[in-house]
This record gives sequence, structure tokens and C-alpha cells, in this order.
Amino acid sequence: MTLTHPDLDRLFAARQSCRGFAPDPVPRDVIERIVGTARRVPSWCNAQPWQVTLTSGAETDRFRAALRQEAETGTPNPDLPWPTRYAGVYQDRRRACGFQLYDAVGVAKGDRAGSARQMMENFDLFGAPHCAIVSSPADLGPYGAMDCGGFVTAFTLAAQALGVASIAQAAVASYGPFLHRYFDIPDDRLILCGISFGYADPDHPANGFRTARAEVAEIVDWHGDA
Ligand SMILES: Cc1cc2nc3c(=O)[nH]c(=O)nc-3n(C[C@H](O)[C@H](O)[C@H](O)COP(=O)(O)O)c2cc1C
Repeated sequence: MTLTHPDLDRLFAARQSCRGFAPDPVPRDVIERIVGTARRVPSWCNAQPWQVTLTSGAETDRFRAALRQEAETGTPNPDLPWPTRYAGVYQDRRRACGFQLYDAVGVAKGDRAGSARQMMENFDLFGAPHCAIVSSPADLGPYGAMDCGGFVTAFTLAAQALGVASIAQAAVASYGPFLHRYFDIPDDRLILCGISFGYADPDHPANGFRTARAEVAEIVDWHGDA
């Protein structure tokens, strides 16, 4: 069978970030197939900087409880600096997807307690039965993180192809020192993000919206005829 561009485009279009999971675990062999596909992405010098700390079952629940506790009492201190600001079109897009989410879950504009409650769902991993913490060697700097970004995207797409829903979460990486301690991840690795994954709860309101994308013409600055 030849894989065609429409097949690939359908896969990309079908993926969305999942913020409401069913509790059912993903079988180990399916997780291995997801990682087995994601590892095919390119990386500078083929360094393949990604390492994944992956929780299942009771270990996910234990982590969820500890992370929630850290989020309620600790101070954010991510290994990777957060964006300094979102301005212009980036701010517009950020606002638009935030409003879509809050609208979907019934949080009214200006309801700060409601939006904070929804934000805290990040630290419950949206109920996912698994979380993959992605880290990169500090020595490889931003390019290591860039390579890992490709891995994260590929993970979510490979998962989608196997009927597994997922969401990349920078929020999970907010508490760097806690995560290093909790999972015994050495300090010479940067913790980049989490990927919570499992089977989607199709009736969960947080899964009931789709984000928009800029048109190709807004993305490409063409030079010469193509
Ligand atoms: C690196 C990265 C970090 C993200 N962090 C979070 C997060 O902490 N919490 C969250 O709800 N969504 C997070 N997202 C999901 C984005 O909000 C989502 O990908 C974007 O709005 C586009 O929507 P879609 O994935 O449904 O197409 C993250 C996505 C990426 C790629």
C-alpha cells in the first residue's frame, strides 16, 4: 500500500489536543509502536536527544497527586524559560484558543476562578492514564529542544494513527526541580514538556472545539517562481 498525501493530511487534521481522557490504559505494545514511529524524526547530527520518562497505572496517579500538590504550593521554575511575551498575531491566536477552550467548558469571559480551575486540570493530566516527560541534554541547548519538538509532534501523530489521544503540556514542565527530584532525572538534562495520553473521552466538553490555522500565504514568504 502506498501512503498518499491525502492519508497523511487526514491524519494531521484528525489530531487535536485532548483535555479529557477515559481512564483505560494503553497497552504496552501500542506505546512501544508510538515511540517506535516518533523516533524516526530527524535531528541535528542524528543526536536523537529525546529521552522519555513514562508513567502508567498507579504510577501516573501517584505522579498526578504529587504534581497537583506542587502546583498548589510551589513556585513555577521551568528548565526552559517560558516565552517572555505573546504580542500581535501571536497574542491574538493565544487568546482565541483560550476563549475556545473556556467557551467549550462553560467558563464565562472574566470568570477568573473558573479559568484558574480549568488551568489546574493540566496538573491532573486531564485524567490521562499515562504521561511522558520529555527531556533533552542541556549541552545541546535550543537545538536539542528543537529536535525534541519534532519528536513530540511525531509522538502525537503516531498516537493518533493508533487511536490514542494526547496533549503536549508545557504546564507539566513548570516545576523543574520537583520533576528532577521526583523522577531522578539528572540535572544535565532539560525537562521540556509532558505528553499526557490515553483514549479520548469523546463526550468531554473540553474536547469539543478545534483550533484554527493561518493560511499558507500567511506563512510563506516566496522568493522566485514555484
Ligand atoms: C510544546 C507544547 C506545549 C503545550 N502546552 C500546553 C499546556 O501546558 N496546556 C494545554 O492545555 N495545552 C498545551 N499545548 C496544546 C496547545 O494549546 C495546542 O496544541 C494548540 O492550541 C493547537 O491546538 P490542537 O493541538 O488541538 O491542534 C501545548 C502544545 C505544545 C506543542
